[in-house]
Amino acid sequence: MNQPMAACMQTLKNPPEGTSPAIVNSDDGEKAQLAETLRKGQNQSLEMIAKGALLTDILSHLMLLIESQAQGVYCSVLLLDDDGIHIRNGAGPSLPAEYMQALDGFEIGPTVGSCGTAMYRKEMVVVSDIMSDPLWEPYKAFIAPHGFRACWSTPIFLNKDMLLGTFAMYYREVRSPGPDDLKLIDVATHLAGIAIERNRKERELARHRDHLEELVAARKAELVVAKDRAEIINLELSKTNAELACTLNTLSLTQAELLRRDKLAALGSLVAGIAHELNTPIGNGLIVASTLAERTSDFSTTYAQGLKRSTLEKYMADASEASLILQRNLQRAADLVSSFKQIAVDHTTTDRQEFSVAELITEISQAFSTPMRQQSIQLTCDITNHMQISSLPALLSQALQSLLSNCLAHAFEGRDKGSIHITAHYKTDTSTEISITDDGIGIPPHNLPRIFDPFFTSKLGAGSSGLGLYIVHNIVCGVLNGKIEVESVVGSGTTFRIVVPSGLQSDALN
Ligand SMILES: Nc1ncnc2c1ncn2[C@@H]1O[C@H](COP(=O)(O)OP(=O)(O)OP(=O)(O)O)[C@@H](O)[C@H]1O
Ligand SMILES: [Mg+2]
Repeated sequence: MNQPMAACMQTLKNPPEGTSPAIVNSDDGEKAQLAETLRKGQNQSLEMIAKGALLTDILSHLMLLIESQAQGVYCSVLLLDDDGIHIRNGAGPSLPAEYMQALDGFEIGPTVGSCGTAMYRKEMVVVSDIMSDPLWEPYKAFIAPHGFRACWSTPIFLNKDMLLGTFAMYYREVRSPGPDDLKLIDVATHLAGIAIERNRKERELARHRDHLEELVAARKAELVVAKDRAEIINLELSKTNAELACTLNTLSLTQAELLRRDKLAALGSLVAGIAHELNTPIGNGLIVASTLAERTSDFSTTYAQGLKRSTLEKYMADASEASLILQRNLQRAADLVSSFKQIAVDHTTTDRQEFSVAELITEISQAFSTPMRQQSIQLTCDITNHMQISSLPALLSQALQSLLSNCLAHAFEGRDKGSIHITAHYKTDTSTEISITDDGIGIPPHNLPRIFDPFFTSKLGAGSSGLGLYIVHNIVCGVLNGKIEVESVVGSGTTFRIVVPSGLQSDALN
């Protein structure tokens, strides 16, 4: 970059490659040759800029080119640091190296020689005589050994306002710039401006590139961390999943166990209920039968001793009464046993078939017409026309009959009339809903959760076993694979809603 004085002097004698040595002469031909050298040198500088040569090389080339155009001139470019305060060495190939080195790091200011002041003022500073100019006062001793007397410094701008540095011309004689010098200054500042700007842009690009690389590296590191974290989370998730699966397994085992216990408990209470219900008629029958046995034994003794007419008549009356009681109780027991039998509905004995819902309900209504008339109950139906379903008609009929008989037995207690409304329609493409609504007394809220329990009845001791709705529930939810729900408002009435699969292809529904 900076060359020793001897080399500088030699360089001055040797203009940049491709340019002809300067021969200062007033002759027009020589002037034209100089202009040609300048033109070529400018092109070479531009080429160097375009090819991305080092800034110091470009500037040195430019300085030598300018020096080749005027005898006795020494040129330099100083740069303004990015901080806007400090001077940085640019190029001064013919100036003493130690002089150029010493300038590096100077602060610009109002009286800092020609260049420091030009940068500070942002205008051209012409010092014709260094030894008498106040701008150089502090640096006289510094410059004196080099023998320079004149120094003109011109700011180099980017876009006319951003200061990049200065271009200086030194002479070893007291001197002011002439028109030729000003032209050269113009060329030098213009080309140096382009080169410095290009260099700045490259530095900026490099900074961005570095920053970008830093960003990419940071993102990469973040990604690695995120990936590691995701892997840890994944592991934890798999562990949790395994634990969950294990818990689920335990839960299903527990559930199965609970179900088994539930079933056992239900079976236990059912057996207890059946025993309790049968206990009364069988117990009554036993008492009467043993009383009759006693009476018969007494009668046999009396008969052996000689039978009186009155004794015979008494025994016959007792025996006849006993047989009536026995018959009643056995009948009750037989009725109970037959209703118990219905609990275990056996659908293998009943046939699945396609049938008309309207016909089924009409048959049931007819069977209930007499008791309904007697209780002044009006029955209305709303059934979708030609509605067919495929199910077990006997069991569905049994369930509906049970619901209707409940209306007659419970809904209108204490009332002299009432009404029942039956509806049937397709609920979805695959299911059918049948509802029975009465406007009777309703079911008290505390009884509602229990009405489907076996042996729950509000008519205890009045011939009701409390198995009706339990059997209906078994038929609908078990055998017919449907569901049943109830809504009831005390004083307004009750609705039982049954939903069963229609059992048809969906196209048959349309
Ligand atoms: N439509 C209704 N209106 C009012 N209460 C009802 C109606 N249907 C059922 N209940 C109540 O639900 C209880 C249980 O009915 P469920 O058919 O199971 O037994 P039950 O009719 O009392 O006796 P069973 O039917 O065994 O002869 C009834 O005792 C009654 O209190
Ligand atoms: Mg009933």
